[in-house]
Amino acid sequence: MGKYVITGGSKLKGTVRINGAKNASLPILAASVLNNSTSEIKGVPKLKDVEVMLNILKLIGAEVKQEDTAFVIDSSKIDTCEVPEHLMRKMRSSIFLMGPLLGRFGYVKVSYPGGCEIGPRPIDLHIKGLKILGAEIEEKYGFIEAKAKKLVGNEIHLDFPSVGATENLMMAAVLADGLTSIRNAAKEPEIVDLQNFINAMGGKIKGAGTDTIRIIGVKELHPVSHSVIPDRIVAGTFLVAAAITGGNIYVENVILEHIEPTLAKLKEAGQLIKTFGDVVEIKGVLPPKSIDTLRTLPHPGFPTDMQAPMMSLMSIADGTTIITETVFENRFKHADELRRMGANIKVNGRIAVIRGVKSLSGAMVEAKDLRAGAALILAGLSAEGVTIVEGAQHVERGYENIDEKLRNLGADIRKVD
Ligand code: EPZ
Repeated sequence: MGKYVITGGSKLKGTVRINGAKNASLPILAASVLNNSTSEIKGVPKLKDVEVMLNILKLIGAEVKQEDTAFVIDSSKIDTCEVPEHLMRKMRSSIFLMGPLLGRFGYVKVSYPGGCEIGPRPIDLHIKGLKILGAEIEEKYGFIEAKAKKLVGNEIHLDFPSVGATENLMMAAVLADGLTSIRNAAKEPEIVDLQNFINAMGGKIKGAGTDTIRIIGVKELHPVSHSVIPDRIVAGTFLVAAAITGGNIYVENVILEHIEPTLAKLKEAGQLIKTFGDVVEIKGVLPPKSIDTLRTLPHPGFPTDMQAPMMSLMSIADGTTIITETVFENRFKHADELRRMGANIKVNGRIAVIRGVKSLSGAMVEAKDLRAGAALILAGLSAEGVTIVEGAQHVERGYENIDEKLRNLGADIRKVD
C-alpha cells in the first residue's frame, strides 16, 4: 500500500534518464523459457510486475541471477509447466508463459490472469491462436490447460491487433513445425524488441512492427544476451510532467520513433519540443492548448497508456478536448478522481469531454490502475495545495521510483507507506 503526498506549483527543471520498458521486459522474460539455456536480459526496470514475472520463472524451476539491472535466466532447469495461481492473479502478463511453455514442453496449466481494472481483458484471441497451432485446450474451474504433442505452424488472423496475443503466439510458434503467419498483428515497438530477442537466441521471425509477422519453426535455440528498449510510456509521462508544470526538462534514453505519437500531441498542445539523438528537451507552455480530438489507437496511433496522463494535461487546457478510448472498454476511472481536483470532465462510455479549467486544486484521490495513478500524480504537480494519491502500489507496477525522479526535477513529492 502507500500514497504519494504532492504539493503543486514547482516548475520541473533538469534531466531524467528513462529506464527499460516494462512492456518489453515482461514478454522477453517469458520468452527466456524457450531456449533451454541461459538468457542475459539487460536494462530491466525495477518494478513490481517484473518481480512477479521473476518469481513465476523461479517457481517453475528456472534459475534467476541478478546483476544490478541485468538478469541471467537459466531455463534448462525448468521442472514444471504449471504456473502458480496466486501469481497468475497478480499480473495479467503471466499469460505470456502459455506460448513458450506450450511451444517447448507441449503442456501448460495456468489460471485466468488478473491485472488492472481497465476492462474485462479476455484472452480469447490467445486461446483461438493456440488452437490454430494445434493445441488442445480445456478451460475449467478457473484454470486453462493446453496440450500439444508438437505445435504445427499455421495461418492466424487476429480479430483485433492485440499486443499480448501477438506476443504469446509469436513465442508459441518459435519451436513449432513449419511456418506460422500472424495477420492483423499488433505493431507496438515492444513486439519488435521481442522479435529481436528471439532471433538473437536462434529463432526465425520476420515482420514484427508490421501487421503480418512470419515465424519459421526451428529445432533448437542457444544462449542469448539482449538489452531491452527504453520505456516509451514512462518517457511520455515525464514529458507531460514538464508540460503540466510549465517546466523545462531533458528526457534522456528515448527512441524517438517510439514516442512520435506522444510528441505530436504535445506539440499540438502548444508545448515546445526539441530532439537531439536519444534526448528530448521540452519547454512546457501554460496553459496548454486543448486538442479537439484525441483517439487512442493501436501503434502507431496515440497509445492508450498515455490517455490518462494526457487527460490530466487537458484538464487545465485553454479549451475543450474530446478523448475517445478505442482500445479498452473502461479506462476512464481517473476522470472521477480528477473531478475531485476541480477538473470539468464528462464521461460517456468510451468518450470523455474535458473542458479546461484555470487550475486544479489539491485533494485526496485514489489510483485505480497504474496509468491513472501516474495521471493523478501529474495533476497534483500542477494543482494548488496538497494532493494525496492513494494506491501507490498500482503506480509502482509501472514506474521505477517515480517520486525520487520527480523530486530530482524539483517536484515537492514524497511517498508515505
Ligand atoms: C498490453 O496489454 C500492455 N501490457 C498494456 O499496457 C497496453 O495498454 C495494451 O497492450 C495496449 O497497448 C503489456 O504489454 C504487459 P491487448 P494487453 O491484448 O496485451 C482486447 C500498461 O499500462 N483483447 O492489446 O493486455 C482487450 O480486452 C498496460 O502498461 C481481447 O478482446 O492488451 C483490450 O480491449 C495496461 N481478447 C484490447 O484487446 C484477447 O484475447 C487490447 O488488449 C486479448 C485482448
